[in-house]
Amino acid sequence: MSVQVTRPTHLIDLAVGHPEPDLLPVDLLRPLTLETQNLTYGEQAGAASFRQQLAGWLTEDYGQQISREELLVTNGSSNALDMICSQLTSTSQAKQTVLVEDPSYFIALKLFKARGFEVVALPMDNEGIELSALEQAIKEHSPAFIYSIPSFHNPTGLTQSHQRRQALVKLAKDHNCPLIADEVYQSLYFTDKPPAPLACYDRSAPVISIGSFSKILAPGLRLGWIQGNGELFNQLRSSALLQSGGGLAPMTSALVGNLIAKGDFQSNLTLLRETYSARAEVLYQGLKSTFGDRIQVNKPEGGYFLWVTFTDGLDVSAAREQARKEGVNYLPGNLCSANGEFSNSMRLCFAWYSEAELKTACEKLSTALALA
Ligand SMILES: Cc1ncc(COP(=O)(O)O)c(C=O)c1O
Repeated sequence: MSVQVTRPTHLIDLAVGHPEPDLLPVDLLRPLTLETQNLTYGEQAGAASFRQQLAGWLTEDYGQQISREELLVTNGSSNALDMICSQLTSTSQAKQTVLVEDPSYFIALKLFKARGFEVVALPMDNEGIELSALEQAIKEHSPAFIYSIPSFHNPTGLTQSHQRRQALVKLAKDHNCPLIADEVYQSLYFTDKPPAPLACYDRSAPVISIGSFSKILAPGLRLGWIQGNGELFNQLRSSALLQSGGGLAPMTSALVGNLIAKGDFQSNLTLLRETYSARAEVLYQGLKSTFGDRIQVNKPEGGYFLWVTFTDGLDVSAAREQARKEGVNYLPGNLCSANGEFSNSMRLCFAWYSEAELKTACEKLSTALALA
């Protein structure tokens, strides 16, 4: 069983996409108190008071009007994806397809497969999923849904342009194909905000955006939200899961709502943006000076990850054992690909370690991959 708590002592593990424990908001949460209503079965969509607070912050952060009626509280993005899979699984015998970006978030790929979907991976360019390939695949597979990570993509760090988002949403609408946008890094921008989440583009399109407090506050809260309108959103809101158990996370959402109301959440997020921005810069510069022309890497503008491609053809998957022996670990690109592609690329997380440790990681990578 993998442990999601402690950092290993024998290596710097840049494969793991977690926040550093020192950045978790224990001191902010400790003084908060609860009321009786926070311990009852909650409203199915989540407490109205929390959704109101969340809608207020999202409206400010996205620069788009968001109403609480468009929000459904979840136990985080993974839970939201699982709920959506459950909703979109048909009872027919035929294998259903999910269209994903290649590469994509590797655990989402596992989740879709575990839920019985066939995963079809489509090429990306610098602006996101390639639309001609997507349209062809929609016609060929009549997919159950499309899964996309529009902002500070996991693993590539790329952000879809406004034009690409418009076209993507239009394509989903024209083909009446659900489009699920995993927006967990949307608010983790370092300077410029990314374009709005996909669900803001056309309220009449079958688009759902998923958000989470895991990366912008703390993963242990297990708190997130679904933003949407229309049939799928209504089905999720009236699911038997919520009818039986009531709204998700009534207690945790009350605590987080309190932090939003006081402004503590927002100031903590500003601190996280500054911290991650500085760490991303250190890792980016360290890699550039270590590997020079051997690599292609984009400077991160938000999120958690750097995607490094060895243009000299180094098979980073094969070299991982050597790297581990040197005391550093990374996620080989092929593990992020439903097609097993990208063996010359690696995903590196800059959130879990300090700037000093990231510098040491670069030195260890240099030794491990020098002659590989
Ligand atoms: C794209 C993406 N989606 C979802 C998750 C998991 O989110 P949560 O903790 O809200 O379940 C992650 C975490 O790494 C992620 O990168």
